[in-house]
Amino acid sequence: MTLHEIERALRELRLSGIAATLSTRVMQAQSTQEPFLDTFAAMLQDELDRRRSRLTERRFKQSRLDERPTLNDFDWRFNPKLPRQACFELHTLKFVSEGGNALIIGKPGTGKSHVAKAVAYQATLQGFDVRYVEADTEFARHALSSTAEQAALLRSFIEPDLIVLDDLFLARRISEASAELLQTVVHQRYKQRRSIVVTSNRVVQDWGKYLGDATMATTILDRLMHRAAMLEFEGKSYRLKEAASRIALNTADSP
Ligand SMILES: Nc1ncnc2c1ncn2[C@@H]1O[C@H](COP(=O)(O)OP(=O)(O)OP(=O)(O)O)[C@@H](O)[C@H]1O
Ligand SMILES: [Mg+2]
Repeated sequence: MTLHEIERALRELRLSGIAATLSTRVMQAQSTQEPFLDTFAAMLQDELDRRRSRLTERRFKQSRLDERPTLNDFDWRFNPKLPRQACFELHTLKFVSEGGNALIIGKPGTGKSHVAKAVAYQATLQGFDVRYVEADTEFARHALSSTAEQAALLRSFIEPDLIVLDDLFLARRISEASAELLQTVVHQRYKQRRSIVVTSNRVVQDWGKYLGDATMATTILDRLMHRAAMLEFEGKSYRLKEAASRIALNTADSP
């Protein structure tokens, strides 16, 4: 077989990782005269690497995360009162293996969504099934969907190892249908010991108001807070800081 034919055969055998680097590995083997087994091992590693990165990419897509924030690009000096230790503890993902939850509650723009997304992204890298949900928007979308779509959405909220319900109650009062959906998701996941991370800028004492039902709020919170880490984000808004620096820049630019 020629090199070209070998590459074609490899693609037919779905060994595209080996196919992609074959010509380099051949050159390497010729120039270094390394033992056959070394070259063969390197080629297998190329295949494994490609499969792993494809799998990670697929998991990221399935999670519906829109970005890949990390705790490294977080400035801990900006709001020194943030529970830094607890954030890193979440990032270890022990709570996901244990079926625990996390509630990240606090002031707007303090980085709650950033931290929740960083944890979710890390979970995709670690091989967990993750679902990121902009809570208010997707709950409202659920209400407008067909019955079949609703069933599929509900499954996607219940089955993953970890779900992030981001910015819950951003729109204040949620509809009765959304409140019931939230209750179902929390109950089902609690029964199956699957983790939930909630971020909200509404203190839990007010949840009854936003759900329009105090009893429902109690039953939801009861399950969420059993085995949960509570993180309070106190501080000033990073968005305002960014806006202020933009204004400062514009002012400096103008004649
Ligand atoms: N300490 C920080 N260091 C770096 N970036 C930050 C920090 N805090 C917030 N940000 C950035 O500021 C923006 C707003 O943060 P984020 O959306 O996480 O806030 P939030 O607490 O979820 O606010 P809200 O309650 O309004 O949803 C994001 O782009 C985030 O990456
Ligand atoms: Mg947020």
